Amino acid sequence: MCGIVAYAGPRDAVPIMLEGLARLEYRGYDSAGIAVVGRSGDLRVRKVKGRVARLADDLPARFKGSPAIGHTRWATHGEPSDANAHPHVSGSVAVVHNGIIENADELRAKLAGDGVEFASATDTEVLAHLIARAADDAGDLEGAVRRALTSLVGTYGIAVIDARRPERIVVARNGSPVVLGIGEREMFVASDLSALVRYTRQVVHLDDGELATVEAGGFRTSTLDARATAKSPSVIDWEPGQYDTGSYDHFLQKEIHEQPSAVRRALSGRLDTRFHTAHLGGLELDARQAREFRRVKIIGCGSAYYAGLMGAQLIEELARVPAGAEPASEFRYRNPVVEHDTLYIAVSQSGETYDTLAAVQELRRKGGRVLGVVNAVGSAIARECDGGVYLHAGPEISVASTKAFTSTAVVLALIALHLGRIHDLSPADGRRIADGLRALPEQIEEILAHEDHIAALARDLVRHPGMFFIGRVRGYPVAREGAQKLKEISYLHAEAYQASELKHGPLALVGPELPTVAVVPDDELFDKNVSTLGQVRARHGRVLAVAHRAGAVAENADDVIVVPKNQPELDPILLTIPLQILAYHAAVELGHDVDKPRNLAKSVTVE
Ligand code: AGP
Repeated sequence: MCGIVAYAGPRDAVPIMLEGLARLEYRGYDSAGIAVVGRSGDLRVRKVKGRVARLADDLPARFKGSPAIGHTRWATHGEPSDANAHPHVSGSVAVVHNGIIENADELRAKLAGDGVEFASATDTEVLAHLIARAADDAGDLEGAVRRALTSLVGTYGIAVIDARRPERIVVARNGSPVVLGIGEREMFVASDLSALVRYTRQVVHLDDGELATVEAGGFRTSTLDARATAKSPSVIDWEPGQYDTGSYDHFLQKEIHEQPSAVRRALSGRLDTRFHTAHLGGLELDARQAREFRRVKIIGCGSAYYAGLMGAQLIEELARVPAGAEPASEFRYRNPVVEHDTLYIAVSQSGETYDTLAAVQELRRKGGRVLGVVNAVGSAIARECDGGVYLHAGPEISVASTKAFTSTAVVLALIALHLGRIHDLSPADGRRIADGLRALPEQIEEILAHEDHIAALARDLVRHPGMFFIGRVRGYPVAREGAQKLKEISYLHAEAYQASELKHGPLALVGPELPTVAVVPDDELFDKNVSTLGQVRARHGRVLAVAHRAGAVAENADDVIVVPKNQPELDPILLTIPLQILAYHAAVELGHDVDKPRNLAKSVTVE
């Protein structure tokens, strides 16, 4: 979704803006723009509907200067157009904004009544006019931003420049990330670390309700009501090379192949060989506190929710504590009963997903204890939770989540092992699960070695208009995630069902036109799964089985992808990998923009 970059320092800021905006492209956007204070002190603005490359082509040679602010916009108020693209300008002030101003209509009517003319249909333009009107003759930009923000209801991450005060940028945050990057006598700002890693490793995350004035020589932070705050920089450990596709065709393919190393990092230092348990320092729970929880509820959106479904089953199986998962996007709207003896776990790759963040805030407001399972260090959700575990999966650029999904499932398995060993999981079973977790990276490598076979199946399957994905119990979250991956990037219709539900309705659709991808692990439900495949085949439905043994399902499947066997509780993690590869090659075959599927954004920072 929307992205912000800004720069204050001696260099020409425009190439830095273009580079930063290109780094933010993966988040999804429909227009881009830059405002810069020229060497002669004039404000210059260029913005276009379309790609950052189009913006770069559109810039005149004399479009140079510093400071500058840049933006990639994902339309919420007003269609994608040149006029609605950010920055928005009022007099000498230019503003870029991520988030949504909820009382924009009201403020717009008031400003229009005072004679203000609007150049766009956006909520952000309201803010530009409010700041320009609040600025006094002395050009106190920080004070003007502070005054303007007091009349705002909604979420924002903003960066503001005023050509009358060309040495500074004022930024503020409420519900939408803003990170400062510290350079040598220069400062950077971005809404996402990916735009900063080329320039600096020293960063400062603003908190909600915080504002900063940024100049080449440094920064100062304060609350909205002008109380100074103290911030210490942290160091980013992500490498610039992680933001390139390297030898792969797409980020998605690269990230699928990074899964063995991502899982190794998720496990690193967290398995205990003495007590056959997991050490997770960030949980901030001792054994006695952990035992007091009678239930576990996992919340997340999309693939994070499906990983949560997998994790809930693991927790219930290993710890024998009732556990379930629920979409975070619905959670707060049903006025949830928050129980003191329920442990809540919020799952998010980006740590920015607004629905998940709002659910966490609602839970904590009601006194619930929330742990975060998050990839982006220092992100809003990570900071909002009582404790948590980082994935350490490295940046995930492709909109479709793969390595973060797998790492989340692995971290939830570690939490399940930890809770299990505190409850009644025996040391022998603890060792069995720990050994199973250690075996995952090599087994994922084995699956990746069969990419060509899976690609050939994908090329064949895309001739059909859609697919069913089915799985029983442990296989069901696998089916959900498989269907999600396929529909996100191939745009083929894909629906997931519990295999047992097929005969209660969806079977009516089964026939030669609609293939079924079946998750058939070699577990206690194997025979039941095979009998469901028989029901599909009896209706001339084509079956692709993802199984542990080809021979055993061969009679009831047209094609089989064989996956190495781990422990039954952990098998779902491995069974998901071929479905990611299948979706990837289906999308490639259909010629889609694999990493940036239509209508979707990497971080969904709005409701
Ligand atoms: C996954 O492929 C999707 N892009 C999407 O469902 C995603 O998992 C969801 O929006 C949650 O994102 P988060 O993990 O960053 O919170």
